[in-house]
Amino acid sequence: MAFNVTIRQSGKQFQVEADEPVLTAALRQGIGLPYGCKNGACGSCKGQLVSGSIEQRSHSSSALSNDEKTRGMALFCCATAQSDLEIDIREIAGVGDMQVKKLPCRVNALERVAHDVIVLKLQLPANERLQYLAGQYIEFILKDGTRRSYSMASAPHHEGPLELHIRHMPGGVFTDHVFGAMKERDILRFEGPLGTFFLREDSNKPIVLLASGTGFAPIKAIIEHARFKGITRPMTLYWGGRRRGDLYLASLAEQWAREVPGFKFVPVLSEPDPADSWQGRTGFVHRAVIEDLPDLSGYQVYACGAPVMVEAAQRDFTAHHGLPADEFYADSFTSAADLANAV
Ligand code: FES
Repeated sequence: MAFNVTIRQSGKQFQVEADEPVLTAALRQGIGLPYGCKNGACGSCKGQLVSGSIEQRSHSSSALSNDEKTRGMALFCCATAQSDLEIDIREIAGVGDMQVKKLPCRVNALERVAHDVIVLKLQLPANERLQYLAGQYIEFILKDGTRRSYSMASAPHHEGPLELHIRHMPGGVFTDHVFGAMKERDILRFEGPLGTFFLREDSNKPIVLLASGTGFAPIKAIIEHARFKGITRPMTLYWGGRRRGDLYLASLAEQWAREVPGFKFVPVLSEPDPADSWQGRTGFVHRAVIEDLPDLSGYQVYACGAPVMVEAAQRDFTAHHGLPADEFYADSFTSAADLANAV
């Protein structure tokens, strides 16, 4: 049995099977709805149920609160339809044009750039090319069918291998393998491109790029893409880590700051080691943005990294510093642990 879903603003319609998440059905039919984790953890797919009834499956309480639920908000990545629906959600132009593929790839290089970060380079089959938007991610499909998501750190125009930044999560099956047994020429399988985190090029607003840890990866792709396209909007990168070593490609960001007109780089450490002899900014990275730019009403913000950082930035920027809610774009690194408080 299938139901009909209508998007309020555009009037676009699509069909959803009774057991199929609304988001999955939309993407399958080329409708670009926003999403990130697809498992109820990040809140990117949140929208308003205008009419009809859904079953909201388990999700993180930080992605959708009980209060939001009583106001008719829903997470469409983990909601199934029980009737025809009308929904209100911002559509994303562009992502529907990207063909999502399942592809094999070969490990081209593993470069250790910090004690807990590897830059993984992947070679696609000779006759394949992955078209994607800078900022999107891929999902590795592991032998047991589970998946792990990583943002592409290389820009789409880049001709060489796909680049990913992998942080070691001790005890995590996949990253233990990457840091222990994986070697050049190993074969992996992935699906992509996925996600709606990419530069909105139909705006002239100055850009704040906010990253924590390996959240730098998609931000790097966005910056390299903007350079390639000759986009001259002012950009400031705030990159936060605990120690100096967490900013594992700081020299690249410093190089951009020297070479790219209008580009600034603000590194921020929350717990600098005395051995770092750190003279720079300290504290939470999103607070550094607020200190420099207390009025964000004329900006776009692109944030990627730990969910706690992304959530704090979204809350503080939009509630207290004038950033329009629809000018905050984010990709947070959610994991099974983030669903521990699922409701
Ligand atoms: S995409 Fe639905 S909560 Fe992340």
